[in-house]
Amino acid sequence: MSTDVPEGTRERPLLELTDVSVTYSGGAVQALQGIDLVVRRGQIVVLLGVNGAGKTTTLSAISGLLPYSGGSLDSGAVLLDGQDLRGSTPAARVQRGISMVMEGRRVFPDLTVEENLIAGGFSRAAGETRETREQMYGMFPILAERRRQLAGLLSGGEQQMLAIARALMQRPTLLMLDEPSLGLAPLIVERIRELVVEINAGGTSVLLIEQNAAMALSIADYAYVLDGKTIAQHGTGAELLADTSVQELYLGIAGEGRRSFRAAHEARARGGAR
Ligand SMILES: Nc1ncnc2c1ncn2[C@@H]1O[C@H](COP(=O)(O)OP(=O)(O)O)[C@@H](O)[C@H]1O
Ligand SMILES: [Mg+2]
Repeated sequence: MSTDVPEGTRERPLLELTDVSVTYSGGAVQALQGIDLVVRRGQIVVLLGVNGAGKTTTLSAISGLLPYSGGSLDSGAVLLDGQDLRGSTPAARVQRGISMVMEGRRVFPDLTVEENLIAGGFSRAAGETRETREQMYGMFPILAERRRQLAGLLSGGEQQMLAIARALMQRPTLLMLDEPSLGLAPLIVERIRELVVEINAGGTSVLLIEQNAAMALSIADYAYVLDGKTIAQHGTGAELLADTSVQELYLGIAGEGRRSFRAAHEARARGGAR
């Protein structure tokens, strides 16, 4: 794929958000203001930000779910492979290759593991999904063991694995994950990190939302920091890991309880009261 394109070549991005603004509640709440974001083919792109910064809103704008949460894309565009997704339903976007693992491991609790996977492959022919299902069982042996169990009876970590496997049933070109490690034990967080790398190595581009910045930046080709409606910082994973404001706010290094990226930035600019 993109591997034989020389670096620096102006290749059309897989996903591009240009000047995206979103409001909720009929315009009363401005959630995003003029966001630009790019995911190139084959990349893992990370979106960091404190609670309420607009991370989930960004994913909803991409998945087409905004209208279902009372949100509206007021300006700007979401382009997939150069094509404007405006007017495209969430199901159509899934068919075009965008799959999402929603915040909070939303599996169907009253369906079995296998039924959850079948539901995940809804837009594909049964024969094809059978093959993908077996691949998922190879990738997630715990799901193979529990294939006849109700999803609601799985542990939190197992449910997250199922949510990821279900999203992969569509063979997406872009997989979006909304805080997949939230509330899970360190060992499972490490497993999720490995999985994201493995999925990406298989050719799927990834847009990952995380609060666990150390984990996410360690695997990010590129990352963005959302800070209350706008992008406050962006760079390669390595650049953001080395950024003192990111360290202070997200990595717990020399933190003083500052709540926003800009506050940390400005405090240092003032001559570092730290
Ligand atoms: N359905 C909604 N109705 C009204 N306001 C919302 C809704 N969803 C999110 N918001 C507001 O939009 C902002 C961004 O929220 P969100 O995208 O969920 O942030 P994050 O995922 O970074 O925590 C917050 O101020 C939040 O309160
Ligand atoms: Mg969120």
